[in-house]
Amino acid sequence: MADTSFDLIVIGSGPGGYVAAIRGAQLGLKTALVEKNAHLGGTCLNVGCIPSKALLHSTEMYHFIEEQSAEHGISVKGASMDIAKLMKRKESVVDKLRMGIQQLVKGRKIALFSGTGQLAGNGKVNIRGDKEKQTIEGKNILIATGSTSIELPFLPFDGKTVISSDDAIALKKAPNKLVVVGAGAIGLELGSVWKRLGSEVTVVELLPKVAPTFDDDICKLAERIFKKQGMHFELGAKVTGMKKDKGKTFLTAEKNGKALEFEADVILVAVGRCPYTDNLGTEAAGLQLDERKRIAVNKHFQTNLPGVYAIGDVVAGPMLAHKAEEEGVAVVEHMAGKAGHVNYDVIPNVVYTDPEIASVGISEQEAKAQGIAVNIGKMPFAANGRALAVGATDGLVKIIACAKTDRLLGIQILGHNASEMIAEAVAHMEYSGSAEDFARTIHAHPTLSETMKEAALAVDKRAIHAL
Ligand code: NAI
Repeated sequence: MADTSFDLIVIGSGPGGYVAAIRGAQLGLKTALVEKNAHLGGTCLNVGCIPSKALLHSTEMYHFIEEQSAEHGISVKGASMDIAKLMKRKESVVDKLRMGIQQLVKGRKIALFSGTGQLAGNGKVNIRGDKEKQTIEGKNILIATGSTSIELPFLPFDGKTVISSDDAIALKKAPNKLVVVGAGAIGLELGSVWKRLGSEVTVVELLPKVAPTFDDDICKLAERIFKKQGMHFELGAKVTGMKKDKGKTFLTAEKNGKALEFEADVILVAVGRCPYTDNLGTEAAGLQLDERKRIAVNKHFQTNLPGVYAIGDVVAGPMLAHKAEEEGVAVVEHMAGKAGHVNYDVIPNVVYTDPEIASVGISEQEAKAQGIAVNIGKMPFAANGRALAVGATDGLVKIIACAKTDRLLGIQILGHNASEMIAEAVAHMEYSGSAEDFARTIHAHPTLSETMKEAALAVDKRAIHAL
């Protein structure tokens, strides 16, 4: 008979769950991983971060061939995009990573259970699979069940006309008119993908800015750049529903008391995600949720039930894979008597558009709201030699430093490869670095990241390549 008694049971195999299970096994905990989907990896791997990045990369190359290659003297005749092949490649990327996780889990001797895990009290978890039901027992139970797309009550998903990101990464052809609700990470990324594949894309956003979680300077410039690329934006508009008229579909919205309509073949709703606790038996188990239906946890990720923990999208904080991973490691280290810890002040946030948007720490506006006096350093990529050489001059770096101590409080980047460049900023902030430390760090020449150093110099008004 299979083993049914464990030190740690992890429910959910997304980046939070599978990483926690691996760390548990590394620390010598007898670990079980419960997953209801056919594949490991959760939203991030199967329908989120990874497939979208594959599509973004392929379409960026296609866009380069179509729009920019001639400028480099490259002549390409008859370039075309085979969407079926594009999707096949995306699937093969996902498949390879699924196999990788499977191997890691097996190699670490983690017991894998297929089915929906449900809290059954006293350290027990019921697992309801396709064919059978079983109960396993754990000294510690970790809930890492993630999140699901928010559905607007007046725009229910039908998988055809009104879709979520799960569908938008798998369309068979580019819709003529794609209307995106929400100018956040998903709206901008998947809007970019289908724009490059030929859709006319209109993004309708409630707040008055694009990528509203970033610094205002970044939002404004990003809006300008994406508009130049041909995306349409209707900002500060409240979506009210959809209507059909003479065989056509329209998204309806309201702005300053005025009714608006946007013709759409497909409407992608990307207004955020909500914690996923369906079928987990939270109510029967008496598991406490917070006001936003997230599982309530203390700083060690403990829920109100003894021995039951939760991490990732299902608890408070940014819904990001790397946040979930860090929490997964920290919670298991804490269980094993170590000092697991997550530094929430330095979680990078990235939108993988072209140019990319990346930030860590607080924006100038957040500093102001918190009453912190700051010095600001800015540097545009247009003044960077490498950016000019590779044709990536759009964007800027902005550094927000404490006026009193010079400590770095936030770094915002809009630019090519911002997702990679932000790592340096995170490291400086992790070690409580100052703008001066950053400015004195030698950067290879010519690199895009010299713009970061120059922005740090600009905090003290001594940037070399700006007047
Ligand atoms: P989001 O929270 O990033 O953006 C949603 C946007 O929709 C916001 O700008 C919000 O103001 C707007 N909005 C909300 N209600 C609206 C309404 N009724 N009408 C018009 N606009 C409305 O959420 P998104 O893009 O759906 O992503 C979901 C989650 O997944 C986020 O937490 C995000 O960080 C994460 N994610 C991260 C990615 C990354 O790291 N690159 C990629 C994709 C998703």
